[in-house]
Amino acid sequence: MAMAGKALWSGRFEDGMDDSTLRFTSSLDVDSRMAFYDIMGSLAHVRMLKSCKIVPAEDAEKIIGGLKELAQQLRDGRLQMDYSLEDIHTNIEVRLTEMIGPAGGKLHTGRSRNDQVATDFKMYLRDAVLNTVDAVNGLIRSLQDVAKRNRDVILPGYTHMQHAQPVTLAHHMMAHAFRFGRDADRFLDALKRMDKCPLGSAALAGTTYPIDRKMTSDLLGFSDPTENSMDSVGSRDFVTEIAFDASMAAISMSSLCEEFILWNSQEFRYVEMDDRYSTGSSIMPQKKNPDIAELTRGKTGGVVGSLVAMLVTTKSLPLSYNRDLQEDKKPVMESLDTVTECARMMSKVVSTLRINESRMLEATSGGFINATDFADYLVTKGVPFREAHGIVGEAVRYCIENKISLDNLTLDQFRKFSPLVDSDVFSAIAVKNCVERRDSYGGTSPASTDVEITLSMQDSMNREEDVRMKDMIIQKCWDRLLNE
Ligand code: ARG
Repeated sequence: MAMAGKALWSGRFEDGMDDSTLRFTSSLDVDSRMAFYDIMGSLAHVRMLKSCKIVPAEDAEKIIGGLKELAQQLRDGRLQMDYSLEDIHTNIEVRLTEMIGPAGGKLHTGRSRNDQVATDFKMYLRDAVLNTVDAVNGLIRSLQDVAKRNRDVILPGYTHMQHAQPVTLAHHMMAHAFRFGRDADRFLDALKRMDKCPLGSAALAGTTYPIDRKMTSDLLGFSDPTENSMDSVGSRDFVTEIAFDASMAAISMSSLCEEFILWNSQEFRYVEMDDRYSTGSSIMPQKKNPDIAELTRGKTGGVVGSLVAMLVTTKSLPLSYNRDLQEDKKPVMESLDTVTECARMMSKVVSTLRINESRMLEATSGGFINATDFADYLVTKGVPFREAHGIVGEAVRYCIENKISLDNLTLDQFRKFSPLVDSDVFSAIAVKNCVERRDSYGGTSPASTDVEITLSMQDSMNREEDVRMKDMIIQKCWDRLLNE
């Protein structure tokens, strides 16, 4: 059955749209998630139309009343969507007109779905991003807690997955925390760049009505209106940027997960994941699997896929609006959902992780993880570092040939490599001292790590405050639009 009779644009058409065309072009499945923002955008728009005397006050009031009622229906889960109407914008407008009559037809004066959808999506993303930042920050908080509780726990630090130098677990956890901090802040930076309101750009060229774009921008909590109407309806770099930020956060989580999966293995046994956040096997009764970490690592594929989808979908699009742009929502909505959920789950995994400190310490012994410290020791005796490096290299080779470690060498054996070695060498290469002496700014010593934790906690507090303020500003806008 043909259905274009119901479409808002059916006037020009002799024949109705085929059902398959409707199904193919509809975005309701995805954009119904923006229903609330669509109503808020319309409330702001109609208030502006009223104040600029573009729509008579009486009609505007009817529209406002109807939109508020729709917002209430949405809150109560009573707002019915009609799948024969292609998108959320059409659904809201048609519902409104059914409710209040012909006055509803005045809402779309001086705007188009093109500026409407860009505005709705920015408002949706603003909230979604704040939620993601909150989740990532929660993960950072969990890492900080593990760091605080494991200030003196020593484990091997790796480069190339080879024992490099001993580090504290606190330092290692904080490395992840700072990386996640940048991920969270990158999202907040993106919000700054998308803080301009496209509404009133209309189809592409602006409008002949004497609209006040600053007013709608203020009512919706944006800093300013966008400066160019074609750019406003034809650009989605704000979406792609968020898709990138989500990808970066997913990659950071994936890296943390990879380590936890290794550390949780029988070979490492550095950590054990809590029963509540592990799963079993249907066939092997002994299994306890780190599925949350594996799934988080795995879901990174989809999140990065969303970024690629955005890049390729928008590549070579001519200005201004093209229907291709309708494909922007699903990937990025989903990638933010994924990153947020993964961060919340990983936060629980981190905060309930059991740490096997004796196993971590044991792993530092028996090898040459303190070789650099032996070289540094020789430097304190006046040997140039390059020469010291060579001497220690010979000592390591000797140890390998004789199947012993540096700690097992006697003073006499040490002296064969350099006569400058004294009995203080033993404390110089003890792993605890190796760690404690790396007290340069940003180094692994417990004292340096305390500074890191303090800085990171300060960052988290600032971030939480930023999110709280932004949420409050947005909430104020909604309260005003719904109650004034
Ligand atoms: N559903 C559309 C989208 O998401 C809304 C804009 C439709 N505009 C148009 N010219 N057909 O992009």
